[in-house]
Amino acid sequence: KRVVVFISGSGSNMMALVKAAAASDYPAEIVAVISDKADAGGLAKAAAEGIATFAFMRKDFASKDAHEEAILAQLEALSPDIICLAGYMRLLTGRFIQSYEGRIINIHPSLLPLFPGLHTHQRAIDAGQRIAGCTVHFVTEGMDEGPVIGQAAVPVLTDDTADALATRVLTIEHRLYPQSLRLLAEGKVRMESGKAVTTAKA
Ligand code: GRF
Repeated sequence: KRVVVFISGSGSNMMALVKAAAASDYPAEIVAVISDKADAGGLAKAAAEGIATFAFMRKDFASKDAHEEAILAQLEALSPDIICLAGYMRLLTGRFIQSYEGRIINIHPSLLPLFPGLHTHQRAIDAGQRIAGCTVHFVTEGMDEGPVIGQAAVPVLTDDTADALATRVLTIEHRLYPQSLRLLAEGKVRMESGKAVTTAKA
């Protein structure tokens, strides 16, 4: 399966996918990395791995639609089977999501449905959570609310700072995302009428 990864920053999740996909038995190939930030650290990392990279800066386009149209045109040329959002900090419009219905996934640094949106680790600490974690889910029009494919949890320690918790969660994100992408690429999970359906013993 052909996969395009979208990033806006350091791309550590993108690199976890790249490393996992290098295994001969992995059912997906990362064919390109797209970013909305020309200075995203992950672009240089992907290029160093020999992966095609593309940057589409919002400010270079007259409107959100024009920006998205340029990205969609590039995707046409890449013809991905699956799109992975990995630290991509921009909401996709319904038009974009419909073009790739059931084939866009995202990793979010909380145990959804708890803490959608930003600053998830500080919010978990402030709420007194004893467990935190991350979620890989299908992308739907609402933010961070699509059907869940996988989750992984870590303890919240008594004197945890948001940074300490973020570091602990990021480590398990890098395991969960490749595992979740494998399930989707192998057809063991799919989105059906708004639900994540596992077709085989996942
Ligand atoms: C991660 O916490 C991820 O869950 C969120 O963005 C953060 C940075 O990701 N989506 P990365 O290092 O750019 O992959």
